[in-house]
Amino acid sequence: MKETRECELCFDHLVIGSGLSGLSSALALAEKTGGSIAVVTKGAIDDCNTKLAQGGIACVIDSSDTFEEHLADTLEAGADLCNPEAVMGIVKKGPERIQWLIDLGTHFTTRDELGDPDREHRGEFDLGREGGHHKRRILHAGDITGAEVERSLVAACRSNPKIHVFENHVAIDLISTWRLGWMGENRCLGAYVFDTEGNRVKTFAASTTTIATGGCGKVYLYTSNPDGACGAGVALGYRAYAAIANMEFYQFHPTILYHPKVKSFLISEALRGEGGVLKILNARGELEPFMDRYHPMKSLAPRDVVARAIDNELKRTGQSNVWLDMRHHPAEFLKKRFPNIYAKCLEAGVDMAKDPIPVVPAAHFSCGGVKTDLNGYTGIKGLYAVGETACTGLHGANRLASNSLLEALVVPANMADHIAENLEELKAERPPARLPVWTSGDATSSDEQVVLSHNWEEIRRFMWDYVGICRTDKRLERAKTRIRTILMEIQKYYWDFHLTKDLIELRNMATVAELIINSAISRKESRGLHYNADYPERNPALDGVDTIIQKPYSPQQ
Ligand code: SIN
Repeated sequence: MKETRECELCFDHLVIGSGLSGLSSALALAEKTGGSIAVVTKGAIDDCNTKLAQGGIACVIDSSDTFEEHLADTLEAGADLCNPEAVMGIVKKGPERIQWLIDLGTHFTTRDELGDPDREHRGEFDLGREGGHHKRRILHAGDITGAEVERSLVAACRSNPKIHVFENHVAIDLISTWRLGWMGENRCLGAYVFDTEGNRVKTFAASTTTIATGGCGKVYLYTSNPDGACGAGVALGYRAYAAIANMEFYQFHPTILYHPKVKSFLISEALRGEGGVLKILNARGELEPFMDRYHPMKSLAPRDVVARAIDNELKRTGQSNVWLDMRHHPAEFLKKRFPNIYAKCLEAGVDMAKDPIPVVPAAHFSCGGVKTDLNGYTGIKGLYAVGETACTGLHGANRLASNSLLEALVVPANMADHIAENLEELKAERPPARLPVWTSGDATSSDEQVVLSHNWEEIRRFMWDYVGICRTDKRLERAKTRIRTILMEIQKYYWDFHLTKDLIELRNMATVAELIINSAISRKESRGLHYNADYPERNPALDGVDTIIQKPYSPQQ
């Protein structure tokens, strides 16, 4: 029998993560339920992937656009794996949620701000275009949309007395009844969280827990994601017996700045939306467009197609990067429309009005995640997942650009409504006053730091080489052997030693890597982002069929 203790931190709702999906969950819960909310986040509140989002939020705003067209573009990009009802449900709610953001103080760029002289358009939003969209429908704040959205959400959360933010707190594990080995239906009671400043584990109890920790780009060697993107949410959900869906569909962004001194800087797809052309050096040493050989939408084809085409061109020619040409625009326009990207490129010695931009693909977005419905509900009582952590059926086998911020706005609002409707039942089942305490080994400082960093680098390297843009059965099997050994080492040799943020992140990253590998092995076809050279064709029998991985449960464990 495990030692129990009176719970020190009890809230009505616990939200893990503080990007767009986490903070909009907290705000929607405060609005709809009136309960108390704890937001735990492993760094500073605005230290998140949302802040790096450049492109924007896809939404049907213009009268020449329709929900049906947005649906059709999403389904086409998703390679017959999206859930059309989920797509329509999210797309239709977009305009209302955008208005909510605007009411919070988010500013989106208007046409007159970009110098449109037509007085009739004054105040109208400038709508951008990105890969796979047949219409201009991306609302943006220059090229720093994520930072602008995050700014307004942080301000709203900070001024809401119901919301308590715990920075520098890393979730270790969810407290699910099955994880505790209890009988009966699985229920989430909160989470064990490591306070990195206080250097101790805290128990957070809550009637509902929402995982909103973003993605897992750090599992790959090259990524557009920030350092914290280690797949915590999916790993937490998996260990708590949630179903995990479609992890093989990992999206590689085609254009990351290729420069020895600049780490992970995204060159937004919005540049190609403004006519940017991808080129490669030909045998005569001249830059030549190549995307017309791969897709009718050329440089603006869906992301899976573009990333794979670049990968193929690099392998074919032996070159280290391709080029994005924006020289058809005058410097004044580029500086106004893409001020951040223009400045960053200039810092790296590239004046995009005069020079082509050197780019390569890198890991960007997980289309799979904790399986949920449109309310973010995981099927485990009290447990919800939202944003990149979740798999609602919107993205299918390949996410349409800028649909993710839309999903991260819509699903938290649905979730808050769903929780408000079921509040009495959830309250009746609130966690017991005493919960088992977190137990790990002694507090001995381990000498394993070198092993941690070695394993961390090894995972990222073999995931890039064996489970990247182009896969084969043999490479996947190699990756599987490696990840098993690393997971065994983590569990056997150092999980019981001194707990650190690095160790928690390594454990999550290894769990997610294994989920990606096993999902990729089980899909015997090529579809969307999952390309396996041993099965180059799509198998129509697998249209609409998700890959699901879930830990089996027996109370004796
Ligand atoms: C970009 O700006 O290219 C990224 C947008 C997205 O990933 O949706």
